[in-house]
Amino acid sequence: MTQVHVVYAHPSDRSFTREVLDAFTGGLDDAGHTRTVSDLYAMGFRSELSVEEYERESGHRSGADVPDDVAAEHARLEAADVWAFVYPVWWADCPARLKGWFDRVWTVGFAYKPVRVRVARKALVLCTAGYSVAELEASGCYQAMRTTMLTDRIGERARSSEFVVFGGSAGGAGQWAEISAGHLRRAAEIAQSI
Ligand SMILES: Cc1cc2nc3c(=O)[nH]c(=O)nc-3n(C[C@H](O)[C@H](O)[C@H](O)COP(=O)(O)O)c2cc1C
Repeated sequence: MTQVHVVYAHPSDRSFTREVLDAFTGGLDDAGHTRTVSDLYAMGFRSELSVEEYERESGHRSGADVPDDVAAEHARLEAADVWAFVYPVWWADCPARLKGWFDRVWTVGFAYKPVRVRVARKALVLCTAGYSVAELEASGCYQAMRTTMLTDRIGERARSSEFVVFGGSAGGAGQWAEISAGHLRRAAEIAQSI
């Protein structure tokens, strides 16, 4: 049994990203894995650093307290073997809500200077996109997003990491039913083989 912490960022329950989340968590349940989910919009998770948080981070005061909502995220991450991030690609990155999660949760003394978080066995980045993977590769956005998420934001905090794009929702509507069904099967399979 594997404990998974899922960080999910999408404002709407009627979205393809929500379907990916449900397929992924359904796959975890089918395989007998346990999970926590931080639904950042449903939680009203604040994405902006306060002045106090900024001063803690920029002053490298690792001994200073962190806000309760940040401490709660730290606890969920530490309790998990695998972390998963599920979100839509917006302007070649994650939504601001999730970017702000990294700004606030990746605190000094936990995520850097030094890395004290219990290193995860695996980090999974599962994002939906309007463009296909081939289109994102041709523009260079795929490589840029992968580097930002896996090299910078995950980095040494997980022993292995994987970047998966469920793309093509902006393509021809005729093919999307088949493409999206394949994406949802893949999301469930990734969860089952975690
Ligand atoms: C504000 C906004 C920005 C977007 N930017 C991109 C982008 O840069 N690249 C891309 O492939 N798709 C982009 N999309 C498309 C979404 O990634 C796509 O609609 C989503 O992944 C799947 O739809 P969902 O909202 O039903 O989950 C954008 C969508 C919105 C709303």
